[in-house]
Amino acid sequence: MIDHLLPSSMADGATPIQLIDGDQRDQLDGLAKMQRTYAASIGFKAQPGRVALLPDAAGKLDRVLFGLGGRDSAERTPFLPGRLAEVLPAGIYRLVGRPDDPALAALSFALGHYRFNAYRTEASNRVQSKLAVPDGVDLDRLAAIVSGVELTRDLINTPANDMGPPELETAARQLAESHGATIETILGEELIAAQLPLIHAVGRASDRAPRLIDMRWGDPAAPRVTLVGKGVCFDTGGLDIKSASGMALMKKDMGGAAAALGLAAMVMASALKVRLRVLVPAVENAISGSAFRPGDVLRSRAGVSVSIGNTDAEGRLVLADALALAGEEDPQLLIDMATLTGAARAALGPDVPPFYTENETLAGDIAHASRKVYDPVWRMPLWRPYEDMLTSKVADIDNTGSAGMAGSITAALFLSRFIRCPSRWVHFDIYGWSAKSRPGRPEGGEAQAIRALFEVFSARYPG
Ligand code: BES
Ligand code: MN
Ligand code: ZN
Repeated sequence: MIDHLLPSSMADGATPIQLIDGDQRDQLDGLAKMQRTYAASIGFKAQPGRVALLPDAAGKLDRVLFGLGGRDSAERTPFLPGRLAEVLPAGIYRLVGRPDDPALAALSFALGHYRFNAYRTEASNRVQSKLAVPDGVDLDRLAAIVSGVELTRDLINTPANDMGPPELETAARQLAESHGATIETILGEELIAAQLPLIHAVGRASDRAPRLIDMRWGDPAAPRVTLVGKGVCFDTGGLDIKSASGMALMKKDMGGAAAALGLAAMVMASALKVRLRVLVPAVENAISGSAFRPGDVLRSRAGVSVSIGNTDAEGRLVLADALALAGEEDPQLLIDMATLTGAARAALGPDVPPFYTENETLAGDIAHASRKVYDPVWRMPLWRPYEDMLTSKVADIDNTGSAGMAGSITAALFLSRFIRCPSRWVHFDIYGWSAKSRPGRPEGGEAQAIRALFEVFSARYPG
């Protein structure tokens, strides 16, 4: 929560958190002898993430020691200070010594306080520690990032019974309202008249009607940036139903939409000089008599006919229509984010989402920003020769293809068929979830890739 960060001017009287670098000696020299003895007696040796709360002579908390570990420690990341959020008693703190990255230290501290307690009956016992940010850290910028990340996490963590297409629309409307954006939705049967047939086909089996959420914000004359987020509020797999374990986490299948909205929140709060558009096809991939079927052939908005090899490859279908619509106004940048394939996880694991683009400059900028803000992403190839894996026996393209290999790449290639201007397009195949708690990243829904993108946008379109 942003209420966990204070301006650096509030550092007076704050309890110092002394950062102890595992590679440097004599860092405990300034402590009282009693404190040094205590640190030694509990075995404090600057191990990464190790905390020691030191009392003064009267027994009150005087300072905190925080181990950073050595340079070669795998646990030494710019997010390590996020661990402080889990262990500090209530109070106001300041950092002493050099964090590896002051802004990321403060950011991880704030993000480490995140808890999803909306469904707990007992009042949350969220720890109220606050950090006066280090000198030179832009608190407004951090506030925008924190609230964007928290929005994304909340949307993903909210269970599907309370985060269906209507509730996702409500969340988007609330966001739009708080930043003066306009929003329109195309609902249910209207999708057919509006020529968004794939969104309708995927979502029509649910009692909660499918819809396209279309939000716009900013100066109409500014460069157009369009974000498209996969909003599958629950993915049963459809008639090609998932296994119990495969379905268990599928409330997070709107993680792309959540990321797009979180990124939009950052952009709007920072008043970047863009004309922003966010498109979210919000659907539930449900099972009923009206469900689309394996073997069906559907005509897409772009006119491309698609045969359904597997109803569980639904994300690329709803994105196909949304991307086609997005391309019609020729945005300068078109970015989609989606929990699109299990294959992306097989390739890179849960924490490093692949991205795809043919724009070398943009790819370089994203990779650079990713490293800078410690928001890992990795470029994978839009390997055109694999397009033949999507060959359909009856239609222009199949939504799955046959080979069972390169699943994240073929999904990206599928999407590329619906892109008018490939050099302006980037696709992120995200996971949207932290399977275990790490500093600054509690277990649960996670905002992947959007801090890196916000960094890219901030450089290109400063507010
Ligand atoms: N939402 C899933 C992909 C997914 C699964 C993402 C688990 C993250 C974690 C997507 O709709 C899907 O089911 N994809 C299939 C595609 C296949 C049928 C071609 C997959 O990846 O298995
Ligand atoms: Mn699916
Ligand atoms: Zn899905």
